[in-house]
Amino acid sequence: MAAPTESTIDRAVTLLHAGGLVAIPTETVYGLGADASNERAVRRIFSTKGRPVDHPLIVHLASPDTIDAWATDVPSTARILASRFWPGPLTLVLWRAPSVLDVVTGGRDTVALRVPDHAITLDLLRRFGGGVAAPSANRFGRVSPTTAEHVRSDLGDEVDLVLDGGPCRVGLESTIVDLTTDRPVLLRPGAISAADLEHALGTEVERVLTGPVRAPGMLKAHYAPATPLEASTEAEAADRCRSLAAEGVRVGLIARSAAVPATEAARFDLGESASDAGRSLYAALREADRAGLDRLLVAVPSGDEGIATALADRLGRAVAAHAPAGGHRG
Ligand code: TXA
Ligand code: MG
Repeated sequence: MAAPTESTIDRAVTLLHAGGLVAIPTETVYGLGADASNERAVRRIFSTKGRPVDHPLIVHLASPDTIDAWATDVPSTARILASRFWPGPLTLVLWRAPSVLDVVTGGRDTVALRVPDHAITLDLLRRFGGGVAAPSANRFGRVSPTTAEHVRSDLGDEVDLVLDGGPCRVGLESTIVDLTTDRPVLLRPGAISAADLEHALGTEVERVLTGPVRAPGMLKAHYAPATPLEASTEAEAADRCRSLAAEGVRVGLIARSAAVPATEAARFDLGESASDAGRSLYAALREADRAGLDRLLVAVPSGDEGIATALADRLGRAVAAHAPAGGHRG
């Protein structure tokens, strides 16, 4: 990567002030950023992504000190989680301040806030001074970008500037927790687990992930490559590859090489640890999707820690996009 120079970050600040779109690196995935207080700029995010306008956006801040400019009735739980996990892969849903634009919240009375953990974007946010609304910088329904190259290949010239901050360290979108309910509710699993949140808060966190979809815009069918996709456990992946190959199906195996023994399939390696798998899943899905195969077989590590839960969630959504009764395409 060519790390952005100070003058590139200055240019990004100028672009944001002028209503431009800047792709920003974060520790989770790249975001498609615009000035959260500029309605026209935020509208451009939706048209560029092809995202329905009622899907609310996360506002990215330079520091927890500015929470109160964006949220009201901020509970002590939010202060605790912000001081424990920010900057980091955690998004807090809070009551919105009256000044927050409807286009950011999808007209809801809540707003999602996060301080991302990436030096370049923190520098940008500090110099910019305001909040940056940013969804993942992919076309709607497709795999989130974890490199600057992914953003360029998805959105090309429609972004005014792509800040290259290298490959994302976490590689899966932030954990989202709603703090406007009686009990905190986990809306989207990420690297910070429900147990991590419970440990920090000393209270129980509700997990609604298998129930009705609570985070608006978190469609079941999402994060999808174009090649038909199927999930497997690591233990069963090699056998499944063999039987698909025996049927003449050209299969690409996306798995940790150490966890799944060698097979005839084209391989896309997810590394060794669960965090390696989190970091490399989206890049592997993109690469495998370009390989012109008939089927992708994906096996991710199991477990109940944050990354494994998040991996299972994203994989389930990617598979759902290919289910015969496809549901809504995300
Ligand atoms: O890691 C991340 O969170 C990345 C990086 C760029 O920060 N962003 C991201 O944004 O994943 P996006 O737009 O792809 O996903 C944001 C999610 C959506 O599922 C949306 O429904 C939820 O956040 N969300 C936003 N505002 C909300 C609100 N007020 N209440 C409930 N959910 C909200
Ligand atoms: Mg997204």
